[in-house]
Amino acid sequence: MNNFKNLVAKDLLYCLKSISPELELNSDDLISMFEYPPDSSLGDIAFPCFKLSRIFRKAPPVIAKEIEEKFSSIVVSKAQAVNGYLNIFVSNDYLIKNVLLEIEDKKEKYGSDGSGKGKTAVFDYSSPNVAKPFHIGHLGTTVIGHSLKKLHEFQGYNCVGINYLGDWGTQFGKLITAYNLWGSDEEIEKEGVDGLVALYVKFHHEAEIDETLNQKARDEFAKLEHGDETNIRLWKWFVEISLKEYQKTYKQLGIEFDSYKGESFYTDKMPAQVEKLRNSGLLRIDDGASIVDLSDYNMPPCLILKKDGSTLYPTRDIAAAVYRKETYDFDKCIYVTSAGQSLHFAQWFKVVELMGYNWHDKLVHVPYGTVSINGEKLATRTGNVILLKDLFKTAIEKVSEIINEKNPNLENREEVAEAVGVGSVVFYYLYNNRIKDINFIMKDALSFEGNTGPYAQYTYARTCGILDKSKDFDFMATEPVISTPEEADLLKVLSKFGEAVKGAIKEYEPSVITRYIIDICSAFNKFYHNCQIATANDINVRNTRIRLTSATKEVLGNAFELICMKKTEKI
Ligand code: ARG
Repeated sequence: MNNFKNLVAKDLLYCLKSISPELELNSDDLISMFEYPPDSSLGDIAFPCFKLSRIFRKAPPVIAKEIEEKFSSIVVSKAQAVNGYLNIFVSNDYLIKNVLLEIEDKKEKYGSDGSGKGKTAVFDYSSPNVAKPFHIGHLGTTVIGHSLKKLHEFQGYNCVGINYLGDWGTQFGKLITAYNLWGSDEEIEKEGVDGLVALYVKFHHEAEIDETLNQKARDEFAKLEHGDETNIRLWKWFVEISLKEYQKTYKQLGIEFDSYKGESFYTDKMPAQVEKLRNSGLLRIDDGASIVDLSDYNMPPCLILKKDGSTLYPTRDIAAAVYRKETYDFDKCIYVTSAGQSLHFAQWFKVVELMGYNWHDKLVHVPYGTVSINGEKLATRTGNVILLKDLFKTAIEKVSEIINEKNPNLENREEVAEAVGVGSVVFYYLYNNRIKDINFIMKDALSFEGNTGPYAQYTYARTCGILDKSKDFDFMATEPVISTPEEADLLKVLSKFGEAVKGAIKEYEPSVITRYIIDICSAFNKFYHNCQIATANDINVRNTRIRLTSATKEVLGNAFELICMKKTEKI
């Protein structure tokens, strides 16, 4: 509807100026005044005349009536004055030329406004801690992060996806100690991350009994930091094993990263930033540790160096941000993490500002809420975690059962089950407002009814089925005509894709897209149930409906891409 609003605003401005030539508004002002009526039967957009009342010195209903009489626009079929509003109806001509033909022309670019051209956006997301479980808590950063990247890419941004692996820190000292004491290469090769996690858990367990283990771990980490060959080799191996496993999950989601530069990469980049902090007089010594006091900003101090001189999480983030600015010269650098880390980001963003980096306002933290499963909160410490791979596995198995029962002859059943199973989890997750805590209920996610991934994928497959049946018709040969409200309503929904993309980017909120996907599905299914498509008698009508189906497939498929949900032609 963005384009519709633009066109209407131009004609409306012309009309308003004919009523009051000295009017000082421009068409952007009018666009920002448009509203959506509560019910589409009242109009497609509404123009409230209340603000004009002071300028025109007339009552709003009088102004609305006057505009109604004088207003004309080829994109509008009807404009009615009601209670101080001008209710405006989109014309069929507009829906055909500016929506249907536009989708057919622009294809996968339809809905993009190109506003990101020439700009670079960096995305720091997923970023699991190596050798710790990759659990359902990581689902948020992974799919929100990737979706935001896709959305920006769609608008023409040059995007860089970074997996800032947690690949450095004292946990490696613990892991190396545990490996030396109890590890077996064979087992680790066989079990992958699970084997590493088991060693890590055993370490914590044993360290409770034998205190000296903690000192051993510190020594091993110190050796690693000083470049001890054996420990470096082990560390690399642990990282490699973990990555191999994460890749499987990323592949299921269709995610690829441009960079895997993790925390370890920044070890030699921190001293320069610590030096800069010290030189600018920002560092304070507090109980032996070096901190930046943030009390003027109502925040606890940001810790830069521990008592023993070792660096911390914020130190690495500061160094990484400087490196990224120098390397990519970003216009935005977006960090997606749980809301639990909001203070950490607020603190070091402030430190970057105090250091005088004028790009500090290009750093964006995008937080999200917690996940519980069937009402149970997850806790890493007590071992109450659900691994992402297990969640996907369960979803895929359940979908396989449904397919076996309902469509046993389906080709590439495994591929479909994976796309629908994984897609159901992703969709269910992204349907929520990101900041809200979510309770994951598998049965709901997998339902083919309601606002779910399987429902959306089923609708997509339905469009594919109809197009397959229609492939022998020369449906592009006739001029399109709109003959029912269902067709018009479907095109109106499709016209809002660009607006949804813009909204999702503005709010860093992929749920705008999932909700929009459901709007498309309901409009399409209504059209499908009430209108004959490939079997319509009138050739013009039939051809138009096939083209509407094809346009729906295009927009729906593009929207799936934006939320990391795979498409399936058949279910
Ligand atoms: N590895 C961290 C964790 O799992 C997330 C890293 C987020 N990114 C960042 N630049 N701090 O909690």
